Amino acid sequence: MTQDQTIQALSEETRTFAPPAEFTANANVTAEAYDRAAADRLGFWDDAAQRITWAEPYTEVLDWSDAPHSKWFVGGKLNAAYNCVDRHVENGLGDRVAYYFEGEGGDTRTITYKDLQDEVSRAANALLELGVKTGDRVAIYMPMIPETVFAMLACARIGAPHTVIFGGFSARAIADRVQDCGVEVVITADGGYRRGKPSPLKAVVDEAMESCPDVRTVLVVKRTGQDVDWTEGRDVWWSDVVDRQSEQHTPEAFDAEHPLYVMYSSGTTGKPKGILHTTGGYLVGTSYTHWAVFDIKPESDVYWTAADIGWVTGHSYIVYGPLANATTSIMYEGTPDTPHQGRWWEIIEKYKATILYCAPTAIRTFMKWGRQIPAKYDLSSLRLLGSVGEPINPEAWIWYRAHIGGDTTPVVDTWWQTENGQILISPLPGVTATKPGAAMRALPGIVADVYNDQGEPVGNGEGGYLVIKEPWPGMLRTLWGDDERFQHTYWDKYPGVYFAGDGAKRDQDGDIWVIGRVDDVMNVSGHRLSTTEIESALVSHDAVAEAAVVGAANETTGQSIEAFVILRESAKGGGQDIVDELRKHVRTEIGAIASPRSIMLVDELPKTRSGKIMRRLLRDIAENREPGDSTTLADSSVVARIQQEVSGA
Ligand code: WT7
Repeated sequence: MTQDQTIQALSEETRTFAPPAEFTANANVTAEAYDRAAADRLGFWDDAAQRITWAEPYTEVLDWSDAPHSKWFVGGKLNAAYNCVDRHVENGLGDRVAYYFEGEGGDTRTITYKDLQDEVSRAANALLELGVKTGDRVAIYMPMIPETVFAMLACARIGAPHTVIFGGFSARAIADRVQDCGVEVVITADGGYRRGKPSPLKAVVDEAMESCPDVRTVLVVKRTGQDVDWTEGRDVWWSDVVDRQSEQHTPEAFDAEHPLYVMYSSGTTGKPKGILHTTGGYLVGTSYTHWAVFDIKPESDVYWTAADIGWVTGHSYIVYGPLANATTSIMYEGTPDTPHQGRWWEIIEKYKATILYCAPTAIRTFMKWGRQIPAKYDLSSLRLLGSVGEPINPEAWIWYRAHIGGDTTPVVDTWWQTENGQILISPLPGVTATKPGAAMRALPGIVADVYNDQGEPVGNGEGGYLVIKEPWPGMLRTLWGDDERFQHTYWDKYPGVYFAGDGAKRDQDGDIWVIGRVDDVMNVSGHRLSTTEIESALVSHDAVAEAAVVGAANETTGQSIEAFVILRESAKGGGQDIVDELRKHVRTEIGAIASPRSIMLVDELPKTRSGKIMRRLLRDIAENREPGDSTTLADSSVVARIQQEVSGA
């Protein structure tokens, strides 16, 4: 579907689904929460902050005097790992399962909160022995295994902000992030299992380290047992240094605004943004929203966020939110079709999962595979379903509820971003009569709106730009090393108001439907990618003179990456070989997730008189549509020529 068709489909969607009466009767949150927060927003967050154990109390909920820089829970002190682990053990929950880990190959581990306390303490002691100090940044490049959580919490425990780099990124991407963040210690694994095979991680780190002379230690978890190169003096096995540590470690309390982590995310320029989250507000925001949106009952729920810890969804809803709430979670290492297409449903049946949270891309893939696959498993334990990462089309929403949710479970479509840290717009499962495809309204304590170009709220039935009008606890504090970009990207368009970069619509009832990015950021399978970043990768290849990248609508992945490339004279005539070569080049520059679906070799690109590439027209071509208005082009016949070239190819 094109974006226009998406908007059309969303506009025609009129079904609503009220929560089941029994769900409402037992729900954690009632409609009263909206009133409470509307009457006293900061008082509401003050209440929510009581979910956290503070080593020293805060004196003020919010300091916004240096806007857009916020300070939440001013003067408070806490330790994030203590809040996620130790306090639960102290409260007698040491035997509760924190994670059911399911390896791709079928190996399993059950990790209780007591196990987690021991492992995190050992890892923290090891980091201290390796000379990591409070404030030092540690990079983590890992598969989806329990040690990834141990490593993150060990960092949090000693106040060393982590920066987790998704395991699908390339050596170049690692090096960029490590350099930008000033990292000296990297934690990785030999490899992880992906589609039934061990896939290397350490080797990728080794390559990245060639341009990272400041990294003095690479700590390596043994996961697959595959061969690895070893740099004496730099590389250390996790099992050599962590296993022999004491499981006693006293967590130190840090300021509420102490940096917890940096997560890199693509923006509209070639350089990823280092989004900084701090400790107190982030934990309050993730813990409250996890409890409210997923109606978490920690003593009985088995919760599963089927995402990678390398993205913010994993940080907030596999690690910090669920652990702060003493939840039992499932962690799965591999892909949904290994070794068979029923793998997720087998896992849900096995652990009697009660809540599933995943991306629309996954749901659309399951639709394609057919409903007969989930139908073979007992999914009756599920009581709530969530969606995140991209707009969910009504058809996928309905399918999800019907074939996974047994036609009874509420479905919550949750809108948020890496920058937000926590869910901001979502139904409340015991309160909201949901509409398929709508994130509905801002959560209690969040003030969202849809603005027109002039910065005025649009009326019902109208579209515009999604904004957040008041600060929230889990919000980013700045961009690492680039505060100017922070202010410019989010706060300049509408002064004092957070500009999300998404288009949205208010329907006749005033409910919010998020439509998608309005900038040069693509969303492919729920992953954020920058057109400019991929263009830079392409033009860094000798054969390329110019490149333009657009996201075209795609039935399964939401968007797909379509590249238009002008080759240098000397490289012309290379045919398919050069296309393969360029695809490989993007893989080494950024990672496999950024590899274009198609690379179209063209002789020119549509440009305005001022030389700006008109991506809109390229999108029309990629989506096989009659190109729109091209009168502002310097040469209006260029589009027809490109169409000819593309269809001839
Ligand atoms: C962008 C943020 C935060 C989780 C993972 C993505 C899109 C996210 C929804 C939704 C429509 C959504 C937006 C947003 N998005 N959730 N429920 N409905 N669009 O994080 O990589 O920071 O991407 O994802 O376009 O701006 P991210």
